[in-house]
Amino acid sequence: MFEEVVAGWDGEQWVHRLDEASGAHLFVAVHSTVLGPGMGGTRLKVYPTPEDGLADALRLSQAMTFKQAAAGLPYGGGKAVIAAPSIPTPGTPERRDLFLRHADLIDSLAGAYFTAADMNTGPADMDTMFERTPFVLGRSPENGGSGESGHGTAIGVFHGIKAAALHAFGSVDLTGLTVLVQGVGSVGGRLVHHLHGAGVKVLVVDTDPARANTVAGEVDGDTVPVADALTTACDVFAPCATGGMLSRESIPALVCRVVAGAANNQLAEPADGDRLAAAGILYAPDYVINAGGVIHLAGYETLGWDEPTMAAALEGIGRTLTEVFARAEVEGISTAEAADRLALARIEAGRAG
Ligand code: NAI
Repeated sequence: MFEEVVAGWDGEQWVHRLDEASGAHLFVAVHSTVLGPGMGGTRLKVYPTPEDGLADALRLSQAMTFKQAAAGLPYGGGKAVIAAPSIPTPGTPERRDLFLRHADLIDSLAGAYFTAADMNTGPADMDTMFERTPFVLGRSPENGGSGESGHGTAIGVFHGIKAAALHAFGSVDLTGLTVLVQGVGSVGGRLVHHLHGAGVKVLVVDTDPARANTVAGEVDGDTVPVADALTTACDVFAPCATGGMLSRESIPALVCRVVAGAANNQLAEPADGDRLAAAGILYAPDYVINAGGVIHLAGYETLGWDEPTMAAALEGIGRTLTEVFARAEVEGISTAEAADRLALARIEAGRAG
C-alpha cells in the first residue's frame, strides 16, 4: 500500500504513474521547494516491490533537500524513481520510449521538480527527456548540457578531504598522508589523481580488479583486496562506491582517523554518526562533501557560472565542512548532526525570508 509507505513523510507532493507499456512504476517525490524547485536524479532500478521504489524516492528526496541547502544552492529536494521489471538496454527504442513517458510525468509538475542522472541513468537518457520537458539537467555536452557531474564531485571531495585534514591533522597539506579510495569509477577514478598530485599515498579498492590495477598504476598507488577495504590502516578512508558501509559492525574495525568520500548514504543508520564520533573518527557528512555534482549541474546549466565561479563554489564545500566540524565540537554533537542542523537552519531562514 503506497499510503502506508508515505505515512510520516514530511514532503510536499509525490506522484505515481503505472507505465503500462513497460510495466514500470514511475514515482516523483518533491520533498521541499522552500529554497527553490526540487532537484535530484532519476534512479532506474529493479525493486522487490513498487512500494520499495516509492520508499527510495521519498527517502532520497529528503536527502536532496539537505544536500541542496548545505550546498547553498537555490534548489530544494526531489527525486524520481523508475521501478522497472528489468533495466532496458541503452540505445533501444524501449528505453527511449520509457524515458519520454517519464519526461511527460515530470513535465506535468510544471517546474516543481528538475531531474538529472542517477543510478542506471546517464546523459543520453537526459537528452531523450529534454525532447519532452525543459526540467532536465545533465544532458550530454553535444546537446547543450554539462555532461557527467563526477568531475565536479571529485573536486568537491578533494576540498573536503583537505578541510578534514586541517581539522584532524592541523594542516591542509596532504603530503605523506595515506588515503584509501573505495571505488574508482566516475568520482573515485578522478579523485585519486587530485590526491596523487597533492603528495598523497593512494590505496585503491574496486570490485573490478582490472580497473583497480589500472587506476593504481596511474597514481603510483597500491591495490587493496575488496574484503580489506574497511580494515586497512590509512589516514583517510574515502568511500566512493556504494552506501551503507558505516555500521555498528564495521565502525569498530576501522583503522583511520577520517572518513571523507563521495558515496551517498554512508551511514547504515543515523546512530552511526555518533558511533564514529565516539570512536574518534572525523566523519565528513556525505551530502555535504559530495555536493559537487549538484553544484556542477546547477552552476553550469541554470546559474550561468563561469569557471572561476565554479571553482570557488566547489572550494566552498571545504569551508562548509570546516563550519560543520567546528559546530560539532562546540555543541558536543556528531558531525552528521551538525550538518543536519546547518541545513535545517538554512531551510528555516529561507522559509522565514
Ligand atoms: P561509478 O559507478 O562510476 O563508480 C563506482 C565504482 O565503485 C565502480 O568502479 C565499481 O566497480 C566500484 N564498486 C562498486 N561496489 C564496490 C565495492 N563494494 N567495493 C569496491 N568498489 C566497488 O559511480 P560514481 O558516479 O563514481 O559514484 C560513486 C558514489 O558517489 C556513489 O555512491 C554515488 O551515489 C555517489 N555520488 C556520485 C556523484 C557523481 O557526480 N557521480 C555525486 C554524488 C554522489
